Amino acid sequence: MTPPMGWNSWNHFWCGINETIVRETADALVSTGLAKLGYQYVNLDDCWAELNRDSEGNFVARKSTFPSGIKALADYVHSKGLKLGIYSSAGYKTCTQTQPGSLDYEEKDAMTFASWGIDYLKYDNCFFDGTKPIVRYPKMTRALMKTGRPIFYSLCEWGDMHPALWGDKVGNSWRNTMDIVDNWDSMVSRADANEVYAEYARPGGWNDPDMLEIGNGGMTNDEYIVHFSIWAISKAPLIIGCDLRSASNETLAILGNKEVIDVNQDPLGIQAKKVRMIGDCEIWAGPLSGYRFVVLILNRSKDWTYDIIAHFDDIGLPPGTVVKARDLWKHETLKERYENQLTAIVRPHSCRVFVLTPIS
Ligand code: GLA
Repeated sequence: MTPPMGWNSWNHFWCGINETIVRETADALVSTGLAKLGYQYVNLDDCWAELNRDSEGNFVARKSTFPSGIKALADYVHSKGLKLGIYSSAGYKTCTQTQPGSLDYEEKDAMTFASWGIDYLKYDNCFFDGTKPIVRYPKMTRALMKTGRPIFYSLCEWGDMHPALWGDKVGNSWRNTMDIVDNWDSMVSRADANEVYAEYARPGGWNDPDMLEIGNGGMTNDEYIVHFSIWAISKAPLIIGCDLRSASNETLAILGNKEVIDVNQDPLGIQAKKVRMIGDCEIWAGPLSGYRFVVLILNRSKDWTYDIIAHFDDIGLPPGTVVKARDLWKHETLKERYENQLTAIVRPHSCRVFVLTPIS
């Protein structure tokens, strides 16, 4: 009922995964304290399977990299109090090394995943048969339901046919964009494309602007803070995409900001939206439980620092409401009380995030 949190192998490792990396990542989720903050899914992406099914048509874990098999990996991950995710495609093959996809094998594969103890399926869109996603994705929905095992179903349809419009009947999250790359332009463009569909997010069904790049080295610390903040207020899945075994303190401080995570996991499950755009300056806002609001004040300029005003009228606060403001990155409640507006100084390519709580 709140967005899923965890880790996925793709953004950092691409095809270079093996069972040791996955086990050590599960260990790292626990030892860094991230697991306690809610990051529970450990998700395999492409390249975990042999390129051919066995003689009975079953998926086979890649012997050279997953010699102990997926069931043993699931047992290990579960023993740490975490959950294991896997990856397939609503086509005949997956996207990168053309391992088998699950089209026409939905029930068999869903049963295999359930028997291994899989808790999450990312379902990609490569090598399909020309039929529409709205035909192919629900086949796997029914197959997963039939297994009787609760499996989070992540539709990775890339936004080809507006998955936000039908995704909530089919799965638990839907990708609205093509793959993210570890740089500012890619990151904000995914955020923008995803924001358009804000109205469609709700508990149990989330817009997905793709996985996190924080810690992979292509952006500044401020830019990664923007990345995490927008994903959090957008109620996006928070799926870490770096090598957690060697993550820096800066990376862990971003991914582990509990106040920002709490916004993402707020029980209302309402995605924040852009409420005003003034050139490079944007105000994003949305309601939280307890009559609170989250406000993100964004400076998209590469060069200039701005004083940016968030007008409460834009955010939806009733006139005359007085609020206190909590700065979620400075971890301080501002002394002043605010009525009508709040002004923040925002550096280039950075943001400020506040939770406003009415006091009258
Ligand atoms: C597609 C997906 C990515 C990743 C790769 C793996 O490009 O969109 O997220 O899963 O396939 O091949």
